[in-house]
Amino acid sequence: MPDDALAFAAIYDDAVRTTTATFDTEPKTVADRAIWLATHDERFSAFIAEDPAWVGSVDLVGEEGIPPSASCAGAALGWASLSRWSDRCAYDATGETSFYIRPDARGRRVGTLLMDAVLAHARSAGFHVLLARIVTGNEASERLHVRCGFVRVGVMHEVGKKFGRWLDVGLWELMLEK
Ligand SMILES: CC(C)(COP(=O)(O)OP(=O)(O)OC[C@H]1O[C@@H](n2cnc3c(N)ncnc32)[C@H](O)[C@@H]1OP(=O)(O)O)[C@@H](O)C(=O)NCCC(=O)NCCS
Repeated sequence: MPDDALAFAAIYDDAVRTTTATFDTEPKTVADRAIWLATHDERFSAFIAEDPAWVGSVDLVGEEGIPPSASCAGAALGWASLSRWSDRCAYDATGETSFYIRPDARGRRVGTLLMDAVLAHARSAGFHVLLARIVTGNEASERLHVRCGFVRVGVMHEVGKKFGRWLDVGLWELMLEK
């Protein structure tokens, strides 16, 4: 199993179990994540932030779907993706962004670093519009997006239910070319 799939799965798994940032309610396996990674390429890309100073191992044994060998995911601080908004061809210049940072690395500008990388890539790859779905009240994610010019263009009310609560989702947009 590729190391990257382990890292993506381990970081996402935590967000699935402990946050409303994703509306997944069941952890994805490393195999699921490898399939998801394979749907990304040089245009619709996935990004990973690693700590070059990291040494040692993390104990992920017992995490559902994550095998003990996931210790190699320890250097990964977070990931971002630029995914297809839709597989209908007219949407080809539109991408959807996602960001997931390891809990102990949040608030240390890793998300900002990844956002800068995603935007630089999106511009050089000729994207026209980026979209993001952000659950209402996710202040860190909203600030991450506001800082680089995303605006909220709508709210979908009570479209999700997690941890026993109905959740609203904001649709955020960044026009890269006008
Ligand atoms: C949301 C997330 C991606 C942001 O990444 P991060 O590395 O923690 O954020 P950064 O340190 O780069 O800070 C980005 C902005 O959020 C603000 N911020 C960071 N943590 C915050 C918090 N807990 N509460 C409020 N604002 C916060 C920062 O001050 C900064 O805003 P500024 O540029 O106006 O000063 C990250 O916290 C995360 O993975 N959270 C859980 C999963 C998630 O919510 N993903 C997004 C799904 S839409």
